[in-house]
Amino acid sequence: MSDVLRKGIILAGGAGTRLYPLTKALSKQLMPIYDKPMIYYPLTTLMNCGIRDILIICNPHHLNDFKDLLGNGMQWGIEIQYKSQPSPDGIAEAFLLGKDFLEDKNVALILGDNLFYGNNFENNLKTVNQEKKGATLFAYPVSDPSRYGIVNFDKDTNKVIDIVEKPPNPKSNYAVTGLYFYDNNVIDYAETLTPSTRNELEITDINKIYLSENNLKVQILGTGMAWLDTGTFDSLQEAGAFIRTLERRQGLKIGSPEETAWRNKFINDDDLMALASEISKSSYGSYLINLINSKFKKKDELI
Ligand code: G1P
Repeated sequence: MSDVLRKGIILAGGAGTRLYPLTKALSKQLMPIYDKPMIYYPLTTLMNCGIRDILIICNPHHLNDFKDLLGNGMQWGIEIQYKSQPSPDGIAEAFLLGKDFLEDKNVALILGDNLFYGNNFENNLKTVNQEKKGATLFAYPVSDPSRYGIVNFDKDTNKVIDIVEKPPNPKSNYAVTGLYFYDNNVIDYAETLTPSTRNELEITDINKIYLSENNLKVQILGTGMAWLDTGTFDSLQEAGAFIRTLERRQGLKIGSPEETAWRNKFINDDDLMALASEISKSSYGSYLINLINSKFKKKDELI
């Protein structure tokens, strides 16, 4: 897949200490969000962009668990590679660890515990994925802005004037979400960074470089979009409840790599049937089998 414009990175590192003892033996990004492992959600977000070359960066202890779950991606018509991050030294380290994987390609980076859901978001992502130059971020209003990277806007023009990491006195409540699109310059920029006071290579510092170069776009994700965090026991449970409610009400699944691969034509009906047959005892498997013949086959035409 060497003719692609952009590759994807999922950063699934960290020790997950806020979720101990759940995460003592298992990676946080493999925890269940209702009926799927957490990493399925960011993985399908990248697939919905049209991205098929993906690097998963994780803690070395969990490398084999991720490989057991996801393999080389061939079953979903994508290519998955792996890289370990020996210590959690910051989000921007992903570009240093991913340098050989990215080569001269652009990149979409997504945090392995981020869950995005919204009508038309997929089409939006496909458009952003076509951008050749600069950076695109997504900002989302939150009730606790001191926990995030925050975008400050000019009051009159609404132009982005600054991005501040975890401001004690936030000037806006628009948080930078964990999905970032960059051109290939991001590797050079990451190489210039020095660790912050929390000893991490900060993604906010990368974003500030793009801002200073006048090469940064920030899209606001408005009402009707869900951006969920899964970092605490409660938010983990809430994310599961959110997915369960939507899936049971609509009879559709969110974040299924099999379905996403099939809808994006990375795999055909026979491939999907073969995958589904392997897990037909699970309701997840029977859902996939039903999908092939159901009225939801042409999802976009129903919307
Ligand atoms: C990180 C980023 C922050 C961003 C957040 C999104 O925060 O540093 O800018 O808003 O992810 O989840 P951290 O998870 O390191 O606290």
